[in-house]
This record gives sequence, structure tokens and C-alpha cells, in this order.
Amino acid sequence: MVTRRDVDKETFRIFGFAGSLRAGSYNRGLLRAASELLPAGTIIDIRGLGDLPAYNADAQVESDSEPVQDFKRRIAAADALLIATPEYNYSMPGVLKNAIDWASRPPKVCCLRQKPVGIIGASTGEGGTIRAQLALRQVFVFTDSYVMVQPEFRVAHATERFDAASNLVDSETRERLRAFLVALVDWTNLVSRRD
Ligand code: FNR
Repeated sequence: MVTRRDVDKETFRIFGFAGSLRAGSYNRGLLRAASELLPAGTIIDIRGLGDLPAYNADAQVESDSEPVQDFKRRIAAADALLIATPEYNYSMPGVLKNAIDWASRPPKVCCLRQKPVGIIGASTGEGGTIRAQLALRQVFVFTDSYVMVQPEFRVAHATERFDAASNLVDSETRERLRAFLVALVDWTNLVSRRD
């Protein structure tokens, strides 16, 4: 079971990252919106994935590079992860899978193990990342991560819900995201058996 960090027991810590490197990314916009809609007592740490190298098992034999160590440290320090994934060709982008592959090794000390995870996503298409989210859930079976089952959170037709600066402006979607974050805290408490 996951145990709550001993330090600062009052603060619930979310680590968020998005599977897009695009400056105008809607999924990065989702994480920005999440930072504005957090439940009381919750903080979010958001990190880009652009500095992570392509996974290479040879490179890991010595030690992880600094960006990989930093990424793993932030996962380990979080009570829950919030992952915003675009959908690329009916699956998750390679940059996101690559980051998870780094975090998953070595398996005996995997920082993803028993880590509560919330998955969200925005796409310009009709499916709103449904297939990418399912692919991501499959990955987290192997890592033994606790992906929240419900509610799901998808944004279809993103161009209609974000402004020109990729900020989430649709009020109904913002309220759904607010409720999702409350559910993620509840889910974490449930699977972590915390007080
Ligand atoms: C896409 N897009 C896309 N959308 C979708 O709903 N299903 C899909 O399978 C794909 N496939 C796909 C592949 C590739 C290579 C690209 C670049 C794009 C469109 C995608 O949803 C759109 O570009 C989003 O805006 C990407 O997310 P960010 O970068 O805005 O976060």
C-alpha cells in the first residue's frame, strides 16, 4: 500500500505532466486549468518532458541522467499523478510513453508502483483521447499503478473549449475538471488507506 509522506501531512501533492511538447498544447492547457481548480489543501507540480532522452537500457546501466532522476524524484514525492495525454494515431504520443518507460525502470524500485494516477486528455477530434487513455491504462497494468477508474475526463473538439492561448475557457469542462480533481484525491485516499 502507498503510505502518505511523513513530511507535511496536511498537503496533498499532485505531479502533473503532459504528453505534448507543443507550446500551444491543449493538454498543457488542461494542466494549467487544473492548477487553478485544485481542491483545498492540494498543490500541483508540473513538469515538461522535453529534456528526457530517448529511452536506452544501456544508458541506464551506469545511472540515470539528471533529467530522468528529477522526473523520478517528482513521481516518488507525489501523492498522485495527473497525466494529460493527447491522442496520436489512436494511442499515446511517443514522448509520454518514453517518459513512462524511464520511470518504470528498474522494476524492483519502480516509482510508479502502487502510485495513484488520474488520466485526462484533450484532442481536436471527436473521441477526445479515449483510445489514448485506454492505451495508457494498459501500460499501467505492468507498472502496478492505481489508475482511477471513474470519472473519466476527455475533451473532444478542443478548439471549441480553449481560447487562442490554449487556456481552458469552457465553463462546463472546467467544472468537470474540478470534480475530477476532487475524485482523484478521494481515490488516492481510498487506495492508499490513508487517514
Ligand atoms: C493527431 N491528432 C489526433 N486526434 C485524435 O483525436 N485522434 C488521433 O488519433 C490523432 N492522431 C494524431 C497524430 C498526430 C501525429 C498528431 C500530431 C495529431 C490531433 C491531436 O488531437 C491534436 O493535434 C491535439 O491538439 C494534440 O494535443 P496537444 O498538442 O494540443 O496537447
